[in-house]
Amino acid sequence: MNEHVQTAGSAPLFNPLAPEFIRNPYPHYERMRATDPVHLTPLGMYVCSRHAEVSLVLRDRRFGKNYVERTIRRYGPKIMDEPVFRSMSHWMLQQDPPDHTRLRGLVVKAFTARRVEDMRPRIQQVVDQTLDHIIPQGKMDLIEDFAFRLPVTIICDMLGIPEEHREAFYAGSRDGGRLLDPVPLSPEEIKQGNAGNAMAAMYFQQLFELRRKNPGDDLTTQLVQAEEDGSKLSNEELTANIILLFGAGHETTVNLIGNGLLALYRNPDQLALLKARPELITNAIEEFLRYDSSVQLTGRVALEDIDDLGGKRIPKGESVLCLLGSANHDQAVYPDSPERLDITRPNVKPLSFGGGIHFCLGAQLARIEAEVAISTLLRRIPDLRLDDAVNAEWRPTFVLRGLKRLLASW
Ligand code: HEM
Repeated sequence: MNEHVQTAGSAPLFNPLAPEFIRNPYPHYERMRATDPVHLTPLGMYVCSRHAEVSLVLRDRRFGKNYVERTIRRYGPKIMDEPVFRSMSHWMLQQDPPDHTRLRGLVVKAFTARRVEDMRPRIQQVVDQTLDHIIPQGKMDLIEDFAFRLPVTIICDMLGIPEEHREAFYAGSRDGGRLLDPVPLSPEEIKQGNAGNAMAAMYFQQLFELRRKNPGDDLTTQLVQAEEDGSKLSNEELTANIILLFGAGHETTVNLIGNGLLALYRNPDQLALLKARPELITNAIEEFLRYDSSVQLTGRVALEDIDDLGGKRIPKGESVLCLLGSANHDQAVYPDSPERLDITRPNVKPLSFGGGIHFCLGAQLARIEAEVAISTLLRRIPDLRLDDAVNAEWRPTFVLRGLKRLLASW
């Protein structure tokens, strides 16, 4: 049986780090949408599971990020002394206008559909080189050996990170995901977050020096020059947002490729269809994003009292979580069996990249990377099989949904 259609039993409505929730959140979401679509959790957060409320909260200016206040409320006033939280507070992702508008405006041109389309040949080259190396081996982990290298290489290109510095990033850990989960971090996890942040900040300070002396045609040079101008961004903002840009696309895109491939191989009719009609790849990527999104949740804060959100009153200052993965399975928007993978589904408009002013900057880049990666894999290794599609193991994070490994052979 497709694990997406099993029932959820009587577990608490929203328990996102429970193993059964991580393994398959969709029956839990279905129960939330049906019974309490704006659910107040014991931790005092409102969780929206229907498409209507998720979409509204993302786009409505009565909701914002209010990051510092929200974080202090959760952890206490000393939390902003922790470097990793201070750094995250400067991410454009955590800012409200006008700072958000200023920071996003500095980099948005590098991510337009046209600029990203121009990168397609380079993306194809990276995928082909990876496969040239792997195909003679007859087996691989699709996550570590295949999906991981592509987004890291492309963002290194965009940031102007020299080739000889990259090996450390390819070997880097993928353990930062806990920082985003809606459950407070332990002191040990905060310590690890600070250490990771310090290492990244140290490397990027060196890169800034390099690009000040030898400017290039890359995003780092562009941002270093904006910082030198004085009024456009501070040194802390520069470092924090380069770290954001560097990290935001890794795990997310790796997991779009991994979750998409798992869905495809678990649905052999859809796999056969895509092999027979490769031109369906663009719609297939939207369906993969909808079917099992690599980002499951994002949050906002009510900036004023909200009288009615799906029947609930939300007082000013309260956190509202938006379950993107649940909105993507809402029958109100996808009346034709939302639990089914259908790469020909019409009008697939998943909320996996968010919506409103924070809509994912890297959406088009991620789509093209996944398109090239998956279609090239199917073409070059047509007899690839997954070794264990049934028991695939998920990473223990909730916001970022992805597999620990996905072993394949041919
Ligand atoms: C924002 C998802 C890939 C950079 C977001 C948001 C989501 C998201 C949901 C909005 C969060 C919110 O509203 O609070 C994804 C997914 C990806 C992906 C599912 C891949 C499948 C990328 C890539 C990059 C990137 C490749 C860059 C190289 C960003 C940045 C923001 C963002 C900078 C913040 C934008 C802002 O605050 O204005 N992403 N992302 N993402 N994403 Fe992505």
